[in-house]
Amino acid sequence: MAALGQTSIVAVIGSGAMGAGIAQVAAAAGHTVKLYDARPDAVDKALDGICSAWGKLAAKGKMSAAEAEAAVGRLVRAPSLAQLADADLVIEAIVENLDAKRALFAELESIVADDAILATNTSSLSVTAIGAALRRPERLVGMHFFNPVPLMALVEVVSGLATDAAVAQAVQDTAAAWGKSPVHAKSTPGFIVNRVARPYYAEGWRLLSEQAADPASIDAVMREAGGFRMGPFELMDLIGHDVNYAVTKSVFDAYYGDQRFTPSVLQLEMVDAGFLGRKAGRGFYRYAENAVPPQP
Ligand code: NAI
Repeated sequence: MAALGQTSIVAVIGSGAMGAGIAQVAAAAGHTVKLYDARPDAVDKALDGICSAWGKLAAKGKMSAAEAEAAVGRLVRAPSLAQLADADLVIEAIVENLDAKRALFAELESIVADDAILATNTSSLSVTAIGAALRRPERLVGMHFFNPVPLMALVEVVSGLATDAAVAQAVQDTAAAWGKSPVHAKSTPGFIVNRVARPYYAEGWRLLSEQAADPASIDAVMREAGGFRMGPFELMDLIGHDVNYAVTKSVFDAYYGDQRFTPSVLQLEMVDAGFLGRKAGRGFYRYAENAVPPQP
């Protein structure tokens, strides 16, 4: 099984922060990309954001106006899942919830062709468990992009127990053809990055609950002295507190309540308040509504 050809059709399900970024990268790489979301307004927002991002790249001379126009023409709104029947690769980027992902893939299996690859952008859920609901779990693989997708090179390609090695290789080759740096991992809770990064956030929350310093000071110290690109609070604002809480909880549960991964009660407070970070205009910091995510 080879990397996707240029004429292959990519479907992206979920047009939030990640789905929009994935659609942008796949369309820029030359694919027709069909975008679906349970909320049609999310697709509108994603398409507006992508077009605005390409407009800015064209204005800066990083993309020609003709390239931007052609890429816009490759983005297709899919009003229903049935419209994704001709997809060669489906990338799911919906809510981080095992039951929701399983139900979606079970429905998709009866829509797409038998040789279509099914990929999940899950941050932390077991690819094995998501695939277990499928008739053909061997064609399900994790394709875990990082936020913001156009800027971040890393993609974790994650194999569940049943994933066919050729499917994982095809997705790795495809990610590389899209200019990304894929790394292969087996499905373990949080995979590589979200496992190693959990204590970074957890210690940030602990410092905050002990009132050691305010978020801006902790972020500044980690950026300027720690050498991190972002401090824990600005990074969680970028990820989205709903998504980050779901990931923390999923890793905590998967390790049978290992205390190292205990979610903070303050974390849930942020979610309950709707202070979800950049996408909500408010997290630890305030943001302009509809701010375009950082671009290369
Ligand atoms: P988001 O909340 O920005 O977007 C999720 C979108 O999925 C929403 O537009 C929602 O309407 C849609 N949706 C929810 N259930 C659906 C369903 N059943 N069918 C169709 N559409 C549905 O979330 P985000 O941040 O884009 O995350 C999506 C996935 O990507 C999650 O699994 C998350 O763990 C993963 N991820 C998130 C990262 C981040 O930094 N935010 C990084 C890497 C992975």
